[in-house]
Amino acid sequence: MTESPNAFEMLGITKRFPGILANDHVDFSCQVGSVHALLGENGAGKSTLMNVLAGLYHPENGEILIGGKPVSFHSPQDAIAHGIGMIHQHFMLVPSHSVAENVVLGLKKPRFFLNLASVEEQVAALGEQYSMSVNPRAKIWELSVGEQQRVEVLKMLFRGAKVLLMDEPTAVLTPQEVESLFRTLRDMTANGHTIVFISHKLDEVVTIADHVTVMRRGKVTAANVPSKGITKSQLAKLMVGREVLFQIEKKKAEPGAVTLSVENLCAENDRGLPALRDLSLKVHSGEILGIAGVAGNGQRELAESLTGLRQPTSGKLALGNIALNSHTNWMEIGKSLGHVPEDRSAVGSVPALSVAENLILKNFNSSPIAAGWSINSTAVHTNAMHLVDEYQIATPSVDTPARMLSGGNLQKVILARETAGKPKLMIAVHPTRGLDVGATESVHKLLIKQRDAGAALLLISEDLDELLSLSDRIAVIYEGKLVGEMPAEGADIRAIGLMMAGSKVDA
Ligand SMILES: Nc1ncnc2c1ncn2[C@@H]1O[C@H](COP(=O)(O)OP(=O)(O)OP(=O)(O)O)[C@@H](O)[C@H]1O
Ligand SMILES: [Mg+2]
Repeated sequence: MTESPNAFEMLGITKRFPGILANDHVDFSCQVGSVHALLGENGAGKSTLMNVLAGLYHPENGEILIGGKPVSFHSPQDAIAHGIGMIHQHFMLVPSHSVAENVVLGLKKPRFFLNLASVEEQVAALGEQYSMSVNPRAKIWELSVGEQQRVEVLKMLFRGAKVLLMDEPTAVLTPQEVESLFRTLRDMTANGHTIVFISHKLDEVVTIADHVTVMRRGKVTAANVPSKGITKSQLAKLMVGREVLFQIEKKKAEPGAVTLSVENLCAENDRGLPALRDLSLKVHSGEILGIAGVAGNGQRELAESLTGLRQPTSGKLALGNIALNSHTNWMEIGKSLGHVPEDRSAVGSVPALSVAENLILKNFNSSPIAAGWSINSTAVHTNAMHLVDEYQIATPSVDTPARMLSGGNLQKVILARETAGKPKLMIAVHPTRGLDVGATESVHKLLIKQRDAGAALLLISEDLDELLSLSDRIAVIYEGKLVGEMPAEGADIRAIGLMMAGSKVDA
């Protein structure tokens, strides 16, 4: 068999940010028609490298070759003109516009606007060809996250992308959507497209990738490894340089008193439609209750109601024997409540503030951080140094703005802040989304440690493996109601999957 030519070659790419060498003489290339997984710990430099290839960042050194010829990109338009398009984790779509309008938006060719009907037709045809149907006339806001991602992919295909760079495309997808994305990727490679696929989910990498390249601290540590026959553990070892436990060790829970009680909770979503319908649950101290469900079934509204971010329409909430309602002093309650929210940058952290400042958002008004009316800056610094060390947060310094941290390290900042005060109740929403295998392992250990120290944990996740390995009990949420509950040990994954999809299952 002859080797396919390379779709592109990156040679000696070096990219610096203040205080950090994000890409250090990186060589990276991919064969035409293959799926190439780019792996590495949080902060390894994967997104940076792809942003260079997509024309968003200009490297200090190195070159990019396409068809053996050097090219120079000064904008994403330059990259797309050479057939390279990137799908970012945060989509860049205009919610009030239709699918077809978004596809042509930004194209500097007004004639497309005149002929929206033909764009709609082409979008529908591309969707058909690559197993990703979306209605070209639907407005973006009407679409699920998975459908919005399809629009991003269609947009790139429409612009003639032959190489698609996908930065953690599955992080926001349900298991069904992942399967459908993989079908699309196979259709695309069969058609001569090339995919760079970044993911922390090693099962996915084993399933979809043809080759794997691993980065560590800005450098490539393993290049172009064929993924046929490779195991998850081998991949993990390549990434973090040590063995990783995929099965968390934990002793049997010893549940104590009821810490969180929720009775007949009803709440509306942002559009004013019922999102929680008479939901009741209890979490005891020393146990983890896992909530399984497909995104959009009330998980967000549940977490927000419990943390004072959303006013329920009816129902009773209590933390121990303190009722939580509109009279609650949430500042005070916040001290016994840890919250790892779904949205790290909007709810979980303040991007413009430093790491040290983000780490005190919770305890800035108590000793030793508070000093009378002001803040004790030495204590802020000491607190940060201690947590950065304990939670192994990779940051150039504690004074670095949070927005400069890699996704995984930002999550660690939030976890450090929220667990350091030893909360009685911990609400964790997708706590390991976007984390590398090593960081996932440490977050899992941390959550179990909280449980064993007597905290009650409510774990909301779409990752069934995570739910099954961490939780003591699992409940399934569907259309704002709990539709089933079972001990996690020996739970039937198939039955949970069916309940998540809304079928009634006889226990
Ligand atoms: N715009 C930026 N300004 C300053 N530093 C940055 C910027 N973007 C990335 N960095 C830093 O460069 C390094 C590499 O970051 P990058 O986002 O490429 O990592 P990654 O491998 O994609 O990690 P993750 O798996 O967490 O997404 C990190 O230390 C990060 O803090
Ligand atoms: Mg990244």
